[in-house]
Amino acid sequence: MGKVINFAHRGSSQICPENTMAAFKKALEQGATGIETDVQLTSDGQMVLIHDETLERTTSGTGWVKDHTLQELKSLDAGSKFDSAFQNERIPLLDELLELVKDSGTIVNIELKNGVILYEGLEQKVIERVRAFNMSDRVVISSFNHYSLFLCKKLAPEIRTGILYMEGLYEPWEYARTLQADALHAYHYAVLPEFVAGAKASGKAYHPFTVNDVKEMERLLQAGVDGIITDYPDKLAALLAAKV
Ligand code: G3P
Ligand code: CA
Repeated sequence: MGKVINFAHRGSSQICPENTMAAFKKALEQGATGIETDVQLTSDGQMVLIHDETLERTTSGTGWVKDHTLQELKSLDAGSKFDSAFQNERIPLLDELLELVKDSGTIVNIELKNGVILYEGLEQKVIERVRAFNMSDRVVISSFNHYSLFLCKKLAPEIRTGILYMEGLYEPWEYARTLQADALHAYHYAVLPEFVAGAKASGKAYHPFTVNDVKEMERLLQAGVDGIITDYPDKLAALLAAKV
């Protein structure tokens, strides 16, 4: 991947409603070179982009994502809880995001939200769409469900995987090797320069999350991370531009 990837976390989620097309488009305008998003399945097996397993926090709906059809979810307002100016935003399909970025160099970090609900067939479905868009070399699939990541690697060795974790794991690059994972998506406090060096020596990338403080971005860039997941792609873009 080369240059440090500026991953917009759920799109530009500080100034737009998270995981909406408005947030993804704004992130690209602000200089993001990557988009992080969360995928779940509807009751009729469609891949939708939404963080919570339930609808209340970000939409006009109630209940579980898994209990609604795509048509029901598409009728919801996914913007007004953030700001009434975004009342026309809808929960996007994974396809809508892939369509938006397919002709650019944008990297997409698709987080499988299958820690609470074990969505059957989610891995196969996501891989099928990534391949259909010819984007295998521009996608990183991540998850807190590491069994799911191992399955992804078995099904699609050509698509990168990133291990999501919160703690100070011992030599996480060794763990990554056991999963044949490509990247470590660590909570940023769990990232020290010596860990980044150890990972690099083993050919594993570091993409810490969610880094919103510029000083912390600087620390991680100094440590040599390969990407940063942030709610403020504009701040990170400015920092990266100043370093060129
Ligand atoms: O991918 C990094 C981060 O998004 C993981 O946590 O809860 O924001 O999905 P969460
Ligand atoms: Ca996420």
